[in-house]
Amino acid sequence: MARRLPILLLTILAATAQTNRYNFEESKVPPYTVPDPLTLNNGEHVRDARTWTEKRRPELMAIFADQVYGATPPPAPPLRTSQVFTDRKALDGKAIRKQVTLYFTPDDAGPQMHLLLYLPAAAKGPSPVFLGLNFNGNHTVNADSGILPNEVWVRDPADLSTTGPKKMLHLPPDDRTRGQNAANWQVEKLLAAGYGLATVYYYDIEPDFTGGMKLGVRPVLVKDPEAWSAMGAWAWGLSRALDFLLTDRAIDPARVALMGHSRLGKAALWAAAQDPRFSLVISNESGKGGASLLKRGFGETTDHLNTAFPEWFCPNYKQYTGHPEKLPVDGNELLALIAPRPLYVASAADDLGSDPKGEFLAAVNAGRVYQLFGKKGLGTTQMPMVDQAILQDIGYHVRSGKHDVTEFDWRQYIAFADQHWGTAATAPAKTSPTKTTSK
Ligand code: GCU
Repeated sequence: MARRLPILLLTILAATAQTNRYNFEESKVPPYTVPDPLTLNNGEHVRDARTWTEKRRPELMAIFADQVYGATPPPAPPLRTSQVFTDRKALDGKAIRKQVTLYFTPDDAGPQMHLLLYLPAAAKGPSPVFLGLNFNGNHTVNADSGILPNEVWVRDPADLSTTGPKKMLHLPPDDRTRGQNAANWQVEKLLAAGYGLATVYYYDIEPDFTGGMKLGVRPVLVKDPEAWSAMGAWAWGLSRALDFLLTDRAIDPARVALMGHSRLGKAALWAAAQDPRFSLVISNESGKGGASLLKRGFGETTDHLNTAFPEWFCPNYKQYTGHPEKLPVDGNELLALIAPRPLYVASAADDLGSDPKGEFLAAVNAGRVYQLFGKKGLGTTQMPMVDQAILQDIGYHVRSGKHDVTEFDWRQYIAFADQHWGTAATAPAKTSPTKTTSK
């Protein structure tokens, strides 16, 4: 997400992609089989929503926990929370800004999560809210001088490793980065449409580098932290952020959307699969290991995921290096676990590593589970033109441009949420109509 990568690092990343042999040619995609979400482990076919909910869904959850993301420990409320710092006149009076720290150990030195929340000041009732983890610190999501800056981790410029960051620097709050990712969050646009935004710096939950595990929540929560995964920990943290949001009566508990970009999109999908309190879910270019079809030999490979980011997935996932065909599940089934909640899958045309077509096909396939609930799913098998959004029970677009989150993306997410929940400004929500729209 708009991280400023120096040219050298980009070159290294490109070289890494090469060594792990990403295929970027459609004609070279080998034959593959998409696993059928509607076939039970015993081979029987799932024909109704009840069999899905009672039998197939638990089977798939168990496989994802066992083979992909590791088993999640039970919810653990923070041991304490700080005072909530509230400013009712933030952003020129347009927002109520709240900030709070949730502590997961008795002492101040252990893992703690700093949550930033904006709510529309003009709201007449409880507001719908988008929650998403951020990449670079809360103070980067808006230029608002009232955001308490995070201590952040950045890659040591001297670290030239081609297999993910090895040397990281823990830096004190740096005001020069305030607002640097504002375009990725569109706070003012969300507020004007009647939505709030809640966000947490994902390193607060577990720093994202080799060795980062020791500094995050995993060792605090489980006996065998290696058996879990960073992705699992980030997903767990999202549910803890939601626990907190649901204590705030200014937030509508039935309208909390979860949005995640890229690796944080993978984490968001797993969080939403596990936690039905997320009532609308957005995967922004979550790619392989997220929404996309891993078994489709286009874009990023399991080899790359497992070598460049060995902490992201659980130990069992390593056996699929070089063998995605052996993985018993795929992105279509991860998406199906969100059913029947509104789900939006977004791709970017130049983000070939994520395999836009693989993301689209997974969304189409997940629609079969939505149909069990009397929903349409995507309502088409035809990939839309670039920059044309499909807004059904499942939404989809492929935006022109690179791997990123843009104003275009947020415009579609707001329209999608409006469609399913009623225009945010006019709570309570309507029931979800379905229609196809363009930009
Ligand atoms: C890398 C990784 C992707 C991931 C992306 C991101 O490119 O290979 O799987 O989605 O980082 O999180 O930005």
